Amino acid sequence: VGERSMKWYDIDVNAKKWTKEAGEIIRNSFQNELLIHTKSAPDDLVTNMDKEIEQFFIKKINETYPEHQILGEEGFGNEIEELKGTVWIIDPIDGTMNFVHQQRNFAISVAVYEDGVGKIGLIYDVVLDELYHSIKGNGAFLNEEKLPKLKSTKVAEAVIGMNVTWVTENKRINPTILAPLAKAVRGTRSYGSAALEMAYVATGRIDAYITLRLSPWDFAAGLIIVEELGGYVTTLKGEPLNLLAQNSVFVSKPGLHEEIMNDYLYKYKG
Ligand code: IPD
Ligand code: CA
Ligand code: CA
Ligand code: CA
Repeated sequence: VGERSMKWYDIDVNAKKWTKEAGEIIRNSFQNELLIHTKSAPDDLVTNMDKEIEQFFIKKINETYPEHQILGEEGFGNEIEELKGTVWIIDPIDGTMNFVHQQRNFAISVAVYEDGVGKIGLIYDVVLDELYHSIKGNGAFLNEEKLPKLKSTKVAEAVIGMNVTWVTENKRINPTILAPLAKAVRGTRSYGSAALEMAYVATGRIDAYITLRLSPWDFAAGLIIVEELGGYVTTLKGEPLNLLAQNSVFVSKPGLHEEIMNDYLYKYKG
């Protein structure tokens, strides 16, 4: 084992340990009262637990790897202008609305990048105790089980994660682009956690996931896991994602990505 892979092995062991510990903190918090605030809009929620969990990770990382940088949704990390060196990208709770309303269907998303290249991706379904994880080049796993490479599929047989608001009148996309796709697929689903929806593409529970605007912490871990399995993660224009900006996101099995780009999304101008 070379020195470099030892480095990632060590970071991976710690990342998994802290993610499981954070999950335990969240599960133990269920009986406590939640403090809920809104951020940019009435449907943009944040709780004391989102903040506590982000701070938990930051403390652990700073103590163990003081030279690493951290980009977190709740803003307790560093101000990151470029992806130089080792950068952790963390969403302490992805699916906060589900966390508040359902106490399920949310995840912790943790990714580690080096000079902009994804190295470690972890998505933890806290309630089901399901950890989706990957170290680049070493396969992807659900808990201890190795996930098979993604096989190509067709629109007519696909179940696609997409939000119904994008099929109706809205300001981000003309409904004439996505409505025909929603009609042509076998089924659509909307889970309310981008990280879990990417994990579901990785495990084949859904075949693709399309959404109009995500932030880096929503997709940073899922990108590593899905790409490791031969899936595609791009914008709706088919371009690579920018890890320092908001992006439209199209995650898909091979074959299906091409078919949806060529037959439906070619009309999307962004
Ligand atoms: C949200 C979830 C949701 C997606 C939103 C995200 P949050 O993340 O991933 O599924 O549609 O765009 O902001 O705020 O719950 O971490
Ligand atoms: Ca949020
Ligand atoms: Ca999120
Ligand atoms: Ca979040």
